[in-house]
Amino acid sequence: MANIVIAGTQWGDEGKGKIVDLLAEQADMVVRFQGGNNAGHTLVINGKKYICHLIPSGIVQGKVCMIGNGLVVDPAVLLEEIDTLTDAGIPMGPDRLRISEKAHLIMPYHKRIDHARESRKKAGKIGTTGRGIGPAYEDKASRQGIRFAELLDDALFPEKVKRAVEEKNFFLQHFFSEDPVDPDAIIREYRNYARRLAPFVTNVSEELDTAIRAGKQVLFEGAQGTHLDIDHGTYPYVTSSSTVAGNACCGAGVGPGAITGVLGIAKAYTTRVGRGPFPSELSDAVGDCIQEKGAEFGATTGRRRRCGWLDTVLLKNAARLNGLTGLVVTKLDVLGGLESLKICTAYEWEGKRITEFPANVKVLEQCKPVYETLPGWSRDISGAKSMKDLPDAAVGYLKRIEALTALPIHIVSVGPERRQTIVLKNPFQGA
Ligand code: IMP
Repeated sequence: MANIVIAGTQWGDEGKGKIVDLLAEQADMVVRFQGGNNAGHTLVINGKKYICHLIPSGIVQGKVCMIGNGLVVDPAVLLEEIDTLTDAGIPMGPDRLRISEKAHLIMPYHKRIDHARESRKKAGKIGTTGRGIGPAYEDKASRQGIRFAELLDDALFPEKVKRAVEEKNFFLQHFFSEDPVDPDAIIREYRNYARRLAPFVTNVSEELDTAIRAGKQVLFEGAQGTHLDIDHGTYPYVTSSSTVAGNACCGAGVGPGAITGVLGIAKAYTTRVGRGPFPSELSDAVGDCIQEKGAEFGATTGRRRRCGWLDTVLLKNAARLNGLTGLVVTKLDVLGGLESLKICTAYEWEGKRITEFPANVKVLEQCKPVYETLPGWSRDISGAKSMKDLPDAAVGYLKRIEALTALPIHIVSVGPERRQTIVLKNPFQGA
């Protein structure tokens, strides 16, 4: 039996949604373990596209989907997704969707503070998604957060909201010069959410334990990417949760022994949305071409993603931090038509060559990429079904990634559809 973690190796948007969708077929459960509605992936149901931010794509295949304790959940967004999917004909009962009683709530004041903080900053803006993610995790760490267990407690919930609002309103009014929030309105609004969401709330850790003991297969779906991790990413230009594979355990409530494999998802090039250093960024026509051909717009905010060459310093860092057992390369088709391709293999900083990812963001900002150039290919590869269908240059590009990262490539994606995938090794088979 296999229990696999899917982790992003870059700065998010690596195409994890498609791979989760593909592998969910063989899983019994799909679990999100961190982040919130800052993530986004597209679901196609009867030819129609839907963007989901919280509910894993396994829901469409009738899998049990779980929202682990490591998430911060905006209940309004979750209910909207439940309603949208129900309208699209997807059964959405509590037998399908489970929410950890320990997951934290995103409250209206979290979103207000997220916006206020970003608009107040002149320099050093993070470029957050504005969904209240950071402030919600701050409250979790400072022990002022409100969890689903408390949302369902009629006596405790108003008490906790009132206590929190006292401090938040002082902060909003006297630091940001913003209007206060109304605690009674929040309590009324969230009581409605509580009524609707109560049947879904459960002990996710216990349910996962029972399922894993019974031989069920679980897919742990990471959001964002390794370099947006609060500890290991390009701090402070990161999200506020731990995005690496190790957090699948903590954020879902399982022990490390349950995990049998970790697949790292890497786009065939690199993108980043929001601020922060990006050594292999392209600010030229090639970058524009990749951006356009790859339709690189954020699924959550619609922002144009910054594009650049593949960076194997990032990938090696991700391999170590996540304990990757295999790599998935996505969007290889997007690179078709470029005469030559570059791979960043090291950085140059103050005349020295470095191959370790620097912790100091100022150093990273000054790093110049060291490139290796490989031949491109002109043929459209979006119909490739196996490695044999790929031009030599595309195979050479993949082989070089394997050599530089010391990781085997298990899956190659050559288009958005499920059939546009070359599976070299299925993580759920032979486990
Ligand atoms: P936050 O998570 O909204 O606080 O945003 C912090 C940083 O993470 C910003 O640069 C966002 O653009 C980035 N970010 C958050 N979620 C995602 C994601 O799912 N994909 C890519 N970038 C993300």
